[in-house]
Amino acid sequence: MQQGYFSKEYTFMMIKPDAVKAGHSGAILKRIEEEGFQIRALKRLRLTKEQAMGFYAVHSARPFFGELTDFMASGPVIAAVLERDNAVAHWREVIGATDPAEAAPNTIRKLFAKSKGENAVHGSDSKENAAIETAFFFSGLELVGQ
Ligand code: RTP
Ligand code: MG
Repeated sequence: MQQGYFSKEYTFMMIKPDAVKAGHSGAILKRIEEEGFQIRALKRLRLTKEQAMGFYAVHSARPFFGELTDFMASGPVIAAVLERDNAVAHWREVIGATDPAEAAPNTIRKLFAKSKGENAVHGSDSKENAAIETAFFFSGLELVGQ
């Protein structure tokens, strides 16, 4: 989906299995709205190992790939498309550093992540990847505008 489909920038996010299991989904969705994002699409699903490998294919050569994709397939996730000015960079700021030990105070990973591997949420790292990741999870019909 091209960025121009919506009036503002959009990003793709997931609440990862650790945070869903721990009961933090509600707090994270509330934070999304408090940060001024509009939720344009939302679904709860469980990834297969193969789907998790497809989503994180960019990391396939990394030593943590097996562990990462086992974890992402270990339970349900909640996936969403979020619209806001500067959505990609702002969501990355709100979620904080990959490792919660290095995340800034009050970021989602500081508040809810267990470890560098099980770190509560995902956020696209560029507008191009937001488009690719949105298309991986949602069809055009599922993206609801104003
Ligand atoms: P994400 O893609 O999930 O939003 O996370 P990120 O950009 O902050 O981090 P990235 O480098 O893209 O890594 C993707 C996910 O892989 C896991 N990871 N584990 N054990 C490790 O050293 C390690 N490094 C990365 C994390 O779940 C990370 O979010
Ligand atoms: Mg990443």
